Amino acid sequence: MQRPLQEKIATRSLRVAVIGLGYVGLPLAATFAEVGFHVTGIDIDQQKVDLANRGESYIPDISSSTLQALLDTKHINFTTDFAILNDIDAVSICVPTPLRKTRDPDISYIISATQQVKEHLHPGQLVILESTTYPGTTDEVLLPELEATGLKVGVDFFLAFSPERIDPGNPDFATHNTPKIVGGITPACTELAQAFYGAAIEKVVPVSSAGVAEMVKLLENTFRAVNIGLVNEIAIICEKLSIDVWEVIDAAATKPFGFMRFLPGPGLGGHCIPVDPHYLSWKLKTLDYTARFIELAAEVNSSMPHYVVNKIGEALNEQRRSFNGATVLVLGVTYKRNVGDVRESPALDIISQLLARKAIVLYNHEYIPSLALHNETFYSQPVSSSLLQAADCVVIVTDHSYYDASWIIREARCIVDTRNLTQGHNDEKIFRL
Ligand SMILES: NC(=O)c1ccc[n+]([C@@H]2O[C@H](COP(=O)([O-])OP(=O)(O)OC[C@H]3O[C@@H](n4cnc5c(N)ncnc54)[C@H](O)[C@@H]3O)[C@@H](O)[C@H]2O)c1
Repeated sequence: MQRPLQEKIATRSLRVAVIGLGYVGLPLAATFAEVGFHVTGIDIDQQKVDLANRGESYIPDISSSTLQALLDTKHINFTTDFAILNDIDAVSICVPTPLRKTRDPDISYIISATQQVKEHLHPGQLVILESTTYPGTTDEVLLPELEATGLKVGVDFFLAFSPERIDPGNPDFATHNTPKIVGGITPACTELAQAFYGAAIEKVVPVSSAGVAEMVKLLENTFRAVNIGLVNEIAIICEKLSIDVWEVIDAAATKPFGFMRFLPGPGLGGHCIPVDPHYLSWKLKTLDYTARFIELAAEVNSSMPHYVVNKIGEALNEQRRSFNGATVLVLGVTYKRNVGDVRESPALDIISQLLARKAIVLYNHEYIPSLALHNETFYSQPVSSSLLQAADCVVIVTDHSYYDASWIIREARCIVDTRNLTQGHNDEKIFRL
């Protein structure tokens, strides 16, 4: 079984499916198609499938022209019909792994995708889970489900975990040049998954098991969450000491070894850093262990929107204004610069807290024309001198490259800067994190 797949990989005759065509799946599907595989993207969202089939990309990291070129050469197509899996040799699962309201993992999307794969599982098929999840998911959830077909892993079909590492908006690293970790259920599974990704990705790093591969991803994202938590706390400490945290970080970052630059900010956002560590801490709770660093970092990071709102209060106070009736202009609502993703963005929390204090909230964001919050729809306002002048407080939540700091400082009456966009400008009207 393994040999024919190896040959198909080498001759590019392998038929590939990617399940879940979001930030991860659509670029991954395109990466496989670009090296000559025939790829079918599968999603339950008909609108996404229709857009993709028309060559209209809805993911900033993949251009419509790239997509159209792959459609023209018939290297890619998109469908909502899972029956195509009957003809597929290798399938990557890239469905969401959010948290429930209780902050417990919601692996229902993985379960539902696995059931679809199971229905069409056939001898020789390679199945890879890419969604971030807790260690043990591939072994404990996917494997029993797929083996219930009577097919045996490592012999009849192959199963591995390979975490996605994309960094949306990163101009230097995309799917093809970001090293890929693979860990199979058996050595044969690892070997095949390595050969498969090796065809499209510059460097593939095999590890000894699916559990190790799952844990690698959680270490990477927990590392970020904890270090961001640390630097956020350092920002709070520096404020108490009347020391500029940004200057401290810049100076510390001159150390060529043993220090890594992390920046404070208004709080965590996106689908990964605020979510993934909870997958690990949840798993540890089932083993009667508290993942203390994760819990502490989450506590500090999730308090940052509140900290920013307090800072806005101080800034308004300096102008003898209260929140009630003050106009607050929020610049940037995504969780990081130059992306169009508002999932888990701290801006949403900041805006909610401002509204609860009866402020009048306006926002600007080039890629987010409207924002639905608390049964109300807000519309992005074009930034103009008059808008900046009219606001009682301008809050920089995301430091998009299209924001001109000098102009904002010149026009605004008062600025709360959570990202150090106003670096180098010293003015009493600037309240920096
Ligand atoms: N976005 C990132 O930067 C990033 C980076 C690394 C890892 N990840 C991980 O990758 C996974 C996917 O994340 P994403 O950001 O691409 O999510 P996303 O929400 O952008 O896309 C997921 C897609 O899966 C589809 N889907 C849901 N259930 C399905 C099903 N049963 N069958 C077929 N399609 C289904 C949805 O319609 C959606 O289009 C998550 O586990 C995430 O943690 C994301």
